[in-house]
Amino acid sequence: MDQQKQMMGMSWGRFAAMIATSTFIMFFLMYQLVYSTDHAMFSLNRLIASLVMGCVMTILMLSFMWSMYKGVGTKMAVLVSATLLGALFLFVNRSQSLIGDVGFMKSMIPHHSIAINNARKARISDPRVRELADKIIAAQVREIAEMKQLLDDIARNGERGEASLPPRSTEITPEMERKMDQKMKKGEEKIVYDPPKPKDAPDQIRNSVMLGYNILTNTQKYAADYVGNDLNCHNCHFEGGITKGGKDGGISYVGVAAKYPKYRERQDYAVDLMTRVNNCFMRSLKGKPLPGDSKEMTALLTYYQWISKGIPIYADIPWLGLQKLESDHKPAKEAGKKAYREICAKCHGENGQGGEKYQQNENSEKSKSEHHRMSGPPLWGNDSFTDGAGMSKLEVMAAFAYNNMPKGNPHLAKEQALDAAAYVTNQPRPKFTKDSKAL
Ligand code: HEC
Ligand code: HEC
Repeated sequence: MDQQKQMMGMSWGRFAAMIATSTFIMFFLMYQLVYSTDHAMFSLNRLIASLVMGCVMTILMLSFMWSMYKGVGTKMAVLVSATLLGALFLFVNRSQSLIGDVGFMKSMIPHHSIAINNARKARISDPRVRELADKIIAAQVREIAEMKQLLDDIARNGERGEASLPPRSTEITPEMERKMDQKMKKGEEKIVYDPPKPKDAPDQIRNSVMLGYNILTNTQKYAADYVGNDLNCHNCHFEGGITKGGKDGGISYVGVAAKYPKYRERQDYAVDLMTRVNNCFMRSLKGKPLPGDSKEMTALLTYYQWISKGIPIYADIPWLGLQKLESDHKPAKEAGKKAYREICAKCHGENGQGGEKYQQNENSEKSKSEHHRMSGPPLWGNDSFTDGAGMSKLEVMAAFAYNNMPKGNPHLAKEQALDAAAYVTNQPRPKFTKDSKAL
């Protein structure tokens, strides 16, 4: 009898130890997806969740091993207590009644961290999902930094405001969702890349918008009188500038209407978009400025305005402008010549004159986009941009080539981009003669 009692005592002790050990381990496993160890803060939520699981495990284990334990009364008592305790923990966790400011943030940090981890590492292939995942990462990183700052401040200076604020309603009405949407649009998330298509412009401006688009994609035809070389705006501003910049996006125009007038060192005063457009006409296309009241200029400005729809004036637009190429590499012309011959020449010609197909098909409307893909425009010589163009600067061309060349499949090393740019920018090209500082 004594022996039997002892055995039973032992087995209940072991049972308790098993549940306690598993609960303890479960608590740590809750952090398995945390992105960085300094995000693994103590989370009361996670502790209580482990305890809920411990209770559930008690019930399940005991039910499965019912016959191995003696004493129906004890077993029932264990079952009932585990159920009640589990329900209580579940209620406490769901109502968040033990969680204050600090507990809330400490629980949210590992939670956010897991979102970062998963958004970074999941095998995502749809570009729309990638974009969403990138937004998730950016938001979590920003909020973790904010929470750490607040935790630090509260630890040093205490909470601001003693009274606890009334709890938020947990019911989300459509009205609330609409307001949250508006806040998102006004607040942090205000710069959303979502340009409208040119053909979707309202009736009153559609013709103008479409002419603008045509000028940018086929400048040789639609603004023939103002162009002095073989280039089109499209050669540097891909897809009519409706891109997110970055890799294979060329130089974007989306939001450009919200960015001007803007100070430019070149002129040493704030220039408007019209002046900026004419800068590229005269320097990049070796041409003449479009008159301010011409239908071409109006078309370009209308186009820029339309594709900048929804972007707040003077917002920071992350995809505009070429990203500077960070590197310690010293650009070397000789290595650049080799890189040019090996990589660039097959599309841009041995002498920078442009690929063969580019020249043959210059006037053939139909095959324009086709030959663009296979054959590059002139990089130097009389038919290329002038020495006053942004692209004639080594660091501009290196940044452009690194992100965009070879066209369609950019894969240059930074060193190759810098060397090739050193070589190309040292070749002869048209002089920019207009000495008016205004353009
Ligand atoms: C040879 C390359 C090249 C060609 C061709 C070219 N541009 Fe540009 N464009 C640039 C560079 C480089 C910049 C400056 C990018 C930066 O700010 O980092 C620029 C900037 C601009 C900007 C201002 C963008 C901003 O974010 O501020 C406008 C507007 C513009 N170009 C219009 C045109 C128009 C219109 C044409 C055709 C007539 C044209 N460009 C052709 C290279 C080119
Ligand atoms: C697979 C063909 C291909 C290769 C290889 C290639 N490019 Fe290009 N490049 C193009 C095309 C096509 C464009 C014009 C894009 C457009 O109009 O859509 C272009 C445009 C450019 C431009 C801007 C327009 C101009 O004429 O100035 C520069 C600068 C440039 N490439 C530099 C380089 C450099 C440097 C290399 C070698 C490191 C290189 N490219 C390799 C196809 C290529």
